[in-house]
Amino acid sequence: MARTKIKEVLQRDDSGYKVNVKGWVRSFRNNQFVALNDGSCMNNLQVVIDLENADENLLRNISVGASLSVHGTVVESQGKGQKVEVKAESVEVMGTCNNEEYPLQLKNRPSLEYLREIAHLRFRTNTFGAVFRVRHALAYAIHKFFNDRGFVYLHTPIVTASDAEGAGEMFRVTTLPFDNPPRNEDGSVNFKEDFFGRSTNLTVSGQLEAELGAMAFSEVYTFGPTFRAENSNTPRHLAEFWMIEPEVAFNDLTDNMDLAEEFIQYVIRYALEHNREDLEFLAQRLADEEKQKPQNERSEMGLIEKLEFVLNNKFERVTYTEAIDILLNSPAYKKKKFQYDVKWGIDMQSEHERYLVEKHFNKPVIVTDYPKEIKAFYMRQNDDGKTVAAMDILAPGIGEIVGGSQREERLEKLSQRMEEMHIPAEEMYWYLDTRRFGTVPHAGFGLGFERMVLFVTGMTNIRDVIPFPRTPKNADF
Ligand code: 4AD
Ligand code: MG
Repeated sequence: MARTKIKEVLQRDDSGYKVNVKGWVRSFRNNQFVALNDGSCMNNLQVVIDLENADENLLRNISVGASLSVHGTVVESQGKGQKVEVKAESVEVMGTCNNEEYPLQLKNRPSLEYLREIAHLRFRTNTFGAVFRVRHALAYAIHKFFNDRGFVYLHTPIVTASDAEGAGEMFRVTTLPFDNPPRNEDGSVNFKEDFFGRSTNLTVSGQLEAELGAMAFSEVYTFGPTFRAENSNTPRHLAEFWMIEPEVAFNDLTDNMDLAEEFIQYVIRYALEHNREDLEFLAQRLADEEKQKPQNERSEMGLIEKLEFVLNNKFERVTYTEAIDILLNSPAYKKKKFQYDVKWGIDMQSEHERYLVEKHFNKPVIVTDYPKEIKAFYMRQNDDGKTVAAMDILAPGIGEIVGGSQREERLEKLSQRMEEMHIPAEEMYWYLDTRRFGTVPHAGFGLGFERMVLFVTGMTNIRDVIPFPRTPKNADF
């Protein structure tokens, strides 16, 4: 008999049919009632063991964490909390689980910090079950969004010789022996001897290659892992994270903002429609967590309310210059509540971004036209000579969730900016070729996938929304 998923059994509204279900025991009460979960949904299926005819050995082997295969009949449930249950006719313990050693007992609800240490097992909790089903749904919705709009999914390289963001936060990829690498006459490492015959690193962004694709397909997107060796030990930074980067020929900055806004609203709507149970569970979890906080630190909206609010309201759009003015005129600035100083030209700190989003506008904000000094070389220069056609989207509770821009399509301006920023033009000939051969205005952005998952699930630490986080001094599992 083929296995039926627990989700399917719970969704059907009939009973009286025979099934085979398989899963892991979440609880076992009175030697009779098993709560079985196979990960297909949040809810457990109640399996009722025929106590009178049950083998003693079998009962001893059923414990939290053990895996079972159950044959039985789906019947209407007598008990509260579920419509149907399975009356077991035969139960096979596929794998026992020693409860002296198993760390996931219901009795002592483990903390998120502790679960990070046992990330190989945390998928089996309600919270992480919900988080990773939502993560999956968001990934699927992202592909669907772009596919439905005719974008081509482009796989950009993971090993690369270029520093797309020019920020120098790269992990080197090499097969040279690091205790005794081949050297040039001047003592520097001779990367000609390295695997790729040059110095290479893990990509920080697929954007530059995506731009090459956009110059033929008009609209492309990437969705892949990116790596940053920035030593930021914060609840918002990972050394390995996933990024979605659409790149669209003929789009200007306004088109870019419209696309980003529509995109974010689309994937949130998808999760609300397809992962309601998971999100309701996560909303309750967040509400419980909020209760631990002092009144004035609690958020006004619950998780679902917040997501619906984002769907139903346009994002605020302000220029960087306006944003700085708002900060300078804020009570927080006047009362010296900011740790970092505010003046035109600063790279806004997360306290500034959060003030704008959470205190001033109380909704997602798109900040545009940043000073060129704090942005990457490829952004299109505005006529004022001071700013570039950049846009960052800031989300409540998260801060920057999207970074993007219109690109500099004018060869001369781009070359000049690269020179100013000491970016080697010879090595980047392939990038500059797009400006030589049929250049067009174009724009794109990058959405940090984990920051999006944080936003939708209401989790507060980025380590809890990627299965196995990579952060400074940590690469377990
Ligand atoms: O703003 P960033 O650095 O932009 C780029 O990489 C551009 N090439 C994107 C583009 O225009 N195609 O990164 C984009 C987003 C950020 O807004 C943030 O959400 C996320 O990537 N991000 C990180 N997420 C987790 N951990 C980190 N260390 C991150 N750094 C950036
Ligand atoms: Mg950025």
